[in-house]
This record gives sequence, C-alpha cells and structure tokens, in this order.
Amino acid sequence: MEKVIVTGGAGFIGSHTCVELLEAGFEPVIVDDLRNSEERVLKGLEKIVSRELPIHRIDCGDAVALNKVFEAEKPSSVIHFAADKAVGESVREPLKYYSNNIGSLFTLLRVMEQHRVKDLVFSSSCTVYGDTDQLPVTENSPTGAAASPYGYTKVVCERMLRDASAADPLLRAVLLRYFNPIGAHPSGIIGELPIGVPNNLIPFITQAAAGIREKLTVFGDDYPTRDGSCIRDYIHVVDLAKAHVLALRWIAKQKAPVCDVFNLGTGTGNTVLEAVHTFEAENGVKVPYVIGPRRAGDVVAMYADTTKSSEVLGWRTELTLGDALRDAWRWQQTLGKAAVQ
Ligand code: NAD
Ligand code: WQD
Repeated sequence: MEKVIVTGGAGFIGSHTCVELLEAGFEPVIVDDLRNSEERVLKGLEKIVSRELPIHRIDCGDAVALNKVFEAEKPSSVIHFAADKAVGESVREPLKYYSNNIGSLFTLLRVMEQHRVKDLVFSSSCTVYGDTDQLPVTENSPTGAAASPYGYTKVVCERMLRDASAADPLLRAVLLRYFNPIGAHPSGIIGELPIGVPNNLIPFITQAAAGIREKLTVFGDDYPTRDGSCIRDYIHVVDLAKAHVLALRWIAKQKAPVCDVFNLGTGTGNTVLEAVHTFEAENGVKVPYVIGPRRAGDVVAMYADTTKSSEVLGWRTELTLGDALRDAWRWQQTLGKAAVQ
C-alpha cells in the first residue's frame, strides 16, 4: 500500500481524511503532536477503520524528528494539514501563526527534498480571497487580501509552494482551498473538537442546542443578503476528505511538474439563519439565539465556484447541509458535556 504522511492527521479534517485514504487503499501515517486534538480521536479513528494506525506524536516543524519519520516510513506522498487555525487568536498572537503555519511547511519541504518525496497536498483556505464581491469565487479570483494573520499564513504558504515547484521540476503540489468544513463522521465516533468557547458557527449551534452555551449570537442581521445574515459555503467534512484521495490520484497521473489549486466547497451559499433553521428542522431541536452586532472581519458572503475541482479532479459533493447538521448533532451527543471548558 502506498504510504501517505498525514500531518495533522489527528485533527478534524485530517482524521476524516485518514478514513477515506484507507478506504481507497492508501496507508496513512499520522504525524501529529496533538496540540489541538486528543488521544480519543485516534482511538475513535482506529475503531472506525478496525485496525491500528501508525502515529508519530511529534512537532512536524522539528526537522530532526520529521527526518526520522521519513527514514522509517519511506512515504510516497504527504498531505499537510498541520497548522493553527483560529482567526481571532492569530490577531492576538500573530507570531505563533507565522512560526507554526509557515515554519512547519518550510521544514516539511526541506525534509521532503532530502528524501526525494515529491507529491504534496496542502490545506489552504477560502480566506485567501479576503473580502470580494465577485461571487462565486473561482481559483483565479484575486488572493492576498486575507484579513487576518492566519489567512495571510495561507497566502504565504501558497506562494512558497509555487516558488518551490517552479524551482524543482519534480515537485507535484496540489493546493486545496476549503470553504467552511462542517459535520462529522456519520458514525458519530469522530468529529470536530473545539477547545473552549467555539468561534465557528456550527460547533456553537450544537453546543447551544445541547444547553452547554446559553444561546447563540447571530453576528448581524443587517447585511445585504436575503435575510440579513452572512452567507457561507458549508461543506461536509466527509465530502472534503474524499477530495484529498482524488487529489492524490490526480497528482499521480501528472507527467509534467504541477502546482495547481482547487476550490473545495459546495457551490451554494447559506445564511447563518438558514443554517440555524435547517439544524432545528433536521434534528427536531431548538437553537436558542439572539441577534447581535456584526463580528469584526466577517465578509458578507463567500461561496465557491467548484467547476474546476469537478472537471479536473472529478470531485462532486454527495452530502447536503442537512446531512452535515445531523452528523454534527450526533457528534455533539457523543461528546456530551465534555466540550465545556
Ligand atoms: P485541527 O486543528 O482540527 O487539526 C490540525 C491538527 O494539526 C491538530 O490535530 C493539531 O494537533 C495538529 N498540529 C498543528 N500544528 C502541528 C505541528 N506543528 N506539529 C504536529 N501537529 C500539529 O484543524 P482542521 O480543522 O482539521 O484544519 C486542518 C487544516 O485545514 C489546517 O491547515 C487549517 O488551516 C485548514 N483549514 C481549516 C478550515 C476549517 O474551518 N476547519 C478551513 C480552511 C482551511
Ligand atoms: C460563519 C458565519 C459568522 C459564530 C472561518 C475562518 C476561515 C475558515 C473557515 C480556516 C459567519 C457567523 C459565527 C457565531 C455567528 N477557516 N457566526 N455566530 O468566519 O466564515 O470562516 O472558518 O481557514 O478562514 O475565518 O466561519 O464558522 O466562524 O462563521 O453568527 O457564534 O457564522 O459571523 O457569518 P468563517 P465561522
């Protein structure tokens, strides 16, 4: 089986991707120091796939430790999820983000070079598009206007990969720009682990519905949208995970060097209030909420043009917003009150 190093494989998107990799016949090797995950995710993952998985609990920005992993595992390719991802925290602690997100990619590229591993899938984000009114956004929409230090680390990483691939004719890189990943594995065994008070909408909805949070605050109802709340492209994490398998297969078919970029969203935007009401209708549970002021830094609307990922990678979403919100609720029930901090 072809070995794939999965940095951040114990995280939200990484863990779901490991399930899909195994199903597709790849052997994922997880590299994660669990700074934003927990042992129980690894246990849950092993339960879903009914086997033990190779896991290296190291900082992937540690070149010596990462070298040893590459020496021992001899991977064919890498999917690099490991990064810090909290937008607000990145404003308060920008150097933490520049150091981990940019530093770990830099170290990884050096180690890949040393071991002649040439195939890489990188986790980027729709945040690279910043605030745009050209919707839906295509891969050619301007980038670089990212509003937060977190967003800017993704802009820099994308640029680093483009420059590295221009200089190394053998490097084959795919940059995946995720929109808003939500949901959980349908088994209810793995899902997102928000630490402390969630910043993201869906974990806040599930915690409010579970009574862990008193109520959700909808950040603004005076935007120029159909109901006044912001529009986002919410994509089921399992659909997202499957795109990584297709990206690896696509890379393997490339004869010429590549560094290409793909949007991963559903192509449909939903408002915050639509997400709340769909959650209530799908799960038969009320979400206590109030309308509050706008949140600084929020863009009015963002959704993907997915033509390229569907035509080139052959990727299509199979799951709906309703599926994702049912799976998110099932996962919340698995977590119980354990997420309270
Ligand atoms: P996550 O925090 O759940 O997973 C990231 C994992 O990486 C965690 O398990 C963490 O412990 C690990 N990690 C971080 N730095 C590390 C390091 N230096 N060494 C070893 N392990 C390290 O995040 P996620 O939601 O699964 O996001 C995965 C990737 O996708 C990130 O690069 C993120 O920026 C990107 N992304 C996420 C979203 C989103 O909304 N979740 C959207 C767009 C892009
Ligand atoms: C969604 C909508 C909020 C919480 C973030 C990152 C982005 C990417 C995806 C990594 C917005 C509203 C939220 C709440 C609310 N991540 N909301 N009440 O901001 O679109 O994107 O995650 O790359 O870079 O910025 O996601 O889930 O925080 O917000 O009304 O308590 O829900 O205003 O309109 P966002 P989100």
